[in-house]
Amino acid sequence: MVTLRYHGHSCWQIDEGDYQVLIDPFLTGNDLATVSPDSFDKLDAIIITHGHGDHIGDTEVIARKTGATCISVFEVANYLTARNCTSHAMHVGGSKDFDFGRVKLTIAHHGSSGPNGEYLGSPVGVVLTMGGKKIYHAGDTGLFMDMKLIGEINAPLDVALLPIGDNFTMGIDDAVKAAELLEAWNNIPMHYDTFPQIQADPNEFVVKASAKGIKAEVISPGQLLKIC
Ligand code: NI
Ligand code: MN
Repeated sequence: MVTLRYHGHSCWQIDEGDYQVLIDPFLTGNDLATVSPDSFDKLDAIIITHGHGDHIGDTEVIARKTGATCISVFEVANYLTARNCTSHAMHVGGSKDFDFGRVKLTIAHHGSSGPNGEYLGSPVGVVLTMGGKKIYHAGDTGLFMDMKLIGEINAPLDVALLPIGDNFTMGIDDAVKAAELLEAWNNIPMHYDTFPQIQADPNEFVVKASAKGIKAEVISPGQLLKIC
């Protein structure tokens, strides 16, 4: 069984058997986060979709404490290696089997830079396969037609985690269209309400998706979703 835990914003913890993977651990400075960076004792990997502070977040601290491998694009991986983290560099379109499962990096239309404006390569989304389940985390992105291809190549996606907050990423209507293109079994909204610029009603996403016959569900920070 695969368990997804939502830690707020775009941070998800995915557990399967003895394996634990964290995506985009933005906890410090996130009032909606229900866990603290020091609450992680064991972690196999941290996947980082891009360098913005609300995604790379507490990666350094958590990675150094747990020894987790930081998986991201070449530029972010190098940035973290230089800060005494164990990293594995990949890039857009590449996939790799790890002990915990398979990681494939997908395109995302957005930016990526470090806290001091460092160039950190391309932003990405990720298709994570663990325990035979496929989870698509879109990262920060606008809507793009190739989501159709991501859904098709990785069919069937079990869950799509989609930003809905607008302003910096897709808003609700575009996220519903994304869900339509991806054809995942279930769609969970993320990247909303953390900042004043991204206030959005996740239930509106669910209602609009349902009206098109698309399953969607709100998972609140601290809640978990089991995929059997
Ligand atoms: Ni961003
Ligand atoms: Mn963001």
